[in-house]
Amino acid sequence: MSDTPSIASEPELQAWSTFFDRASAMMSGEVQDLVRTQRSPKALRDHLQLGLPRTPRPLPQVVDALFELVEQTPSTASPRFFNQLFGGRTAAASMGEMLAVLLNNSMYTFKAAGVQAIIERTLSQRMCALAGFTEGEGSFTPGGSLSNLLSVILARGEQFEGSREHGLGAVRPILYTSELGHYSIPKNAGLAGIGRSNVRYVATDARGRMLPGDLERQIIADRALGHTPFFINATAGTTVLGAFDPLVELSHIAREAGIWLHVDGALGGSMLLSERTRPLLAGLEHADSFTWDAHKMMGVPLTCSVLLVRQPGILGRHLSEKADYLFHGDDMHDRGQTSLQCGRRNDALKLWAAWQALGDTGLGKRIDDAVGSATRAAQRIEQTPGLVLVKPPESVNVVFQRDGVDSKALCKALQTQALAVVGSATVDGSTVVRLSCVNSNIESTDIDDFVHAAATVVVPV
Ligand SMILES: Cc1ncc(COP(=O)(O)O)c(C=O)c1O
Repeated sequence: MSDTPSIASEPELQAWSTFFDRASAMMSGEVQDLVRTQRSPKALRDHLQLGLPRTPRPLPQVVDALFELVEQTPSTASPRFFNQLFGGRTAAASMGEMLAVLLNNSMYTFKAAGVQAIIERTLSQRMCALAGFTEGEGSFTPGGSLSNLLSVILARGEQFEGSREHGLGAVRPILYTSELGHYSIPKNAGLAGIGRSNVRYVATDARGRMLPGDLERQIIADRALGHTPFFINATAGTTVLGAFDPLVELSHIAREAGIWLHVDGALGGSMLLSERTRPLLAGLEHADSFTWDAHKMMGVPLTCSVLLVRQPGILGRHLSEKADYLFHGDDMHDRGQTSLQCGRRNDALKLWAAWQALGDTGLGKRIDDAVGSATRAAQRIEQTPGLVLVKPPESVNVVFQRDGVDSKALCKALQTQALAVVGSATVDGSTVVRLSCVNSNIESTDIDDFVHAAATVVVPV
């Protein structure tokens, strides 16, 4: 033991110890607390002291205040949380995240991040190898939407020479995505100066996959009008159906037409981790860029997303800037030169920790288990009178309805009666329940209980 006082004071260290005790009590209480009842915003404001004090409060009181919020916060780690695309909680990943917060590095330079920058690069390289980008590189972003944004920015720079310096001028760039692509695509077209009206929505087949013929037809039509097609967004795992666009065919079209091919694998990128599901992404190695969210199927806390590019050098070409107060050399670990951001949190450590704990085999099993949950749910729904499977699952999402019951009302009843949290969406013009089985910690009994609850819960009219 050193005589030098620690940076944290003794009362702070005691408060930390209480904090960790309460965090572990919170986790052991979660089994009884599968779905927390949700109060209205007004009731929450009335019930909790959410205002900001004028004078300091002692740290133990702040710890109490923090844990008072827990019961009023939806538990996304619960095996009854099927809303949106959360992968549950993996202990090692959460620990990696907590340590990253305590260390509080910024990932822009090797000087500020040290070994953490090397970890980030190691992850990017492994993920590139899995994607088939043998010489590729990666950049961590605050989420799949922004990874998609980065892809549009890179493609704009590569496809329109000089645009980084002078803008797009008179050219009319056209971006293609399927009608089932994520909403970040038109949003990013607006943000990146492409223009939302320059987004073309390509038709899909009955399974929700982009129709290459319609894409080709629209490219020809745009060229005839003097426009410049420059970007195709293919989706690997659409948000509602979990469908995979046909990457081999799309890559042929992109190559023939000289258009950038991006693959939005925010949801389905993790399918690369299992031998069984890898074929869903066949052709990915020909794409120019690829979004992969570890915070969805890999069970890593939000946010952990990476944009991978096939060709080395592209990130630096479109992102680097001079800033002699920050970047002093050409260290390849000065990752701020290949990033959207300046100060940037360490999203890599939690993924590295999860990979340490699970290994390639454990990660692959996660994916197989999630697909297995969706398959089981679909079978149970088909076997349950009163429930209708709208389409067979493409991967980890299951869409269904209950006869004579509005799907939104069904979701609400399940949540207010503390049975499950699940969301609704629109498929072929009808509202459906979308059951997301992204959390591989879900057991078969959770699926069976969910299906039973969906079929029997009393839904107020
Ligand atoms: C296909 C797809 N792309 C992008 C996103 C956006 O990802 P994020 O929520 O990490 O921004 C999602 C989120 O659901 C998605 O399903």
